[in-house]
Amino acid sequence: MNRALDSDSQDTNVSEVINSDKTHVWHHLSQHKPLETSDPMMIVEGKGMRVTDIKGKEYLDAVSGGVWTVNVGYGRESIANAVRDQLVKMCYFANSAGNIPGAQFAEKLVEKMPGMGRVYYSNSGSEANEKAFKLVRQLASIKNGGKKHKVIFRDRDYHGTTITALSATGQAQRKDQYGPFTPGFVEFPHCLAYRSANGDHPDFGVQSAKELEKTILREGPDTVGAVILEPITAGGGVITPPEGYFETIQEICTKYGVLIHIDEVVCGMGRTGKWFGYQHYGVKPDIVTMAKGVASGYAAISVMATTENLFSEFLADPSDKMHYFRDISTFGGCAGGPAAALENMRIIEQENLLDNVNKMGDYLMDQLLELQQKHPMIGDVRGKGLFVGLELVKDRQTKEPVDESVVAGIAGDCLKQGVMIGRTNRSFAEHNNTICLSPALICTKGDLDEIVRSIDIAITKVVYPEVCNLFL
Ligand SMILES: Cc1ncc(COP(=O)(O)O)c(C=O)c1O
Repeated sequence: MNRALDSDSQDTNVSEVINSDKTHVWHHLSQHKPLETSDPMMIVEGKGMRVTDIKGKEYLDAVSGGVWTVNVGYGRESIANAVRDQLVKMCYFANSAGNIPGAQFAEKLVEKMPGMGRVYYSNSGSEANEKAFKLVRQLASIKNGGKKHKVIFRDRDYHGTTITALSATGQAQRKDQYGPFTPGFVEFPHCLAYRSANGDHPDFGVQSAKELEKTILREGPDTVGAVILEPITAGGGVITPPEGYFETIQEICTKYGVLIHIDEVVCGMGRTGKWFGYQHYGVKPDIVTMAKGVASGYAAISVMATTENLFSEFLADPSDKMHYFRDISTFGGCAGGPAAALENMRIIEQENLLDNVNKMGDYLMDQLLELQQKHPMIGDVRGKGLFVGLELVKDRQTKEPVDESVVAGIAGDCLKQGVMIGRTNRSFAEHNNTICLSPALICTKGDLDEIVRSIDIAITKVVYPEVCNLFL
């Protein structure tokens, strides 16, 4: 009999499970028609950097759970135990009351974020961003008669799946067919030097940040409450900010009284070699949101952190019965989330994983730059720490992007080789041409060699299919 690999579920029949999935599960981001004649991928086990599918094939995971989440790697019993112990003791109570891991994690978290003072719990990155948008709007209402309510966002950034988080997202294909969107969200241009007319200019960082000022002035500074930015754009193609960018953003925001909201849903918790991505760039945020790596996927938890200053705005008039942040999130009260997050943070500290990110990140970048020398198809390599993008082009001179199907083919070939890589996917009209790598913070040089080798082989097959048919 065809049985699942999981020794705890000896009775699980693989074909029955696959059939249940095919018949009843609606997968995220998936066109299901092909699954009428093929089987879905189902992941049943994970250990360290590797996962195993239901048919027993093992993969090296270069994207930490597909969407840059499992920062400390799979199979961490200490996190599972921390969650288990907490759930048995006290699983849930609405977060209008406190709980022990919630208090302890909040304290440890703000220690890593000088300038931040308060932690608000919720479940997903989108939800944390929604909290921040509500906070900006309520603040506008309390302080400015509702005027300073607009949020500026950047082309190519992604902030989540709910309608308002999508309203703040700069990815046309992601948004397509889901309008109309929430009013009061305004886009300004991205800062990707590789795709900008004056990207080579030494002043490019400052000039592209000044696009924010133009947008604020166009909208009217008295209408703009906040700007939301990823420190490094993730799903929009791994875009690191050019020099001088965030310093100028800071100056502009101070000048016009605009709050800085940094979305650390991907970059937070060590991915880039510091606790938070923004900490590379000297910017002082008012609001920071985070999710994915906060508990490395062992529990659903997200956080909106704010400065004490911002928090204190909601204390100003206790006699007004509407003058407090009147938001709630049922599962923001789950105590398993902060219990997992505390242990996740302890692991990152005890195993010196930030050091590993910096060392392995440098190594990965060197290997990829070498690969770029070999393959003219790799137009640009960019990233920070264990977070890297390779932009693929038909021609280095014209920078014409390869079609999305080419990148999908390369990712598919890596998968056949047993390596999972990521890619920009149905986000833009024509720039779905970036391979994304975000291996777990525990990765070794051997893991990275295997990842780079698989990409090398996959690209070689695209460029020289006849030769590869003979030799590979
Ligand atoms: C930068 C960023 N912000 C927010 C989100 C939304 O997070 P979630 O999917 O947990 O709602 C994502 C998800 O990929 C993201 O990449």
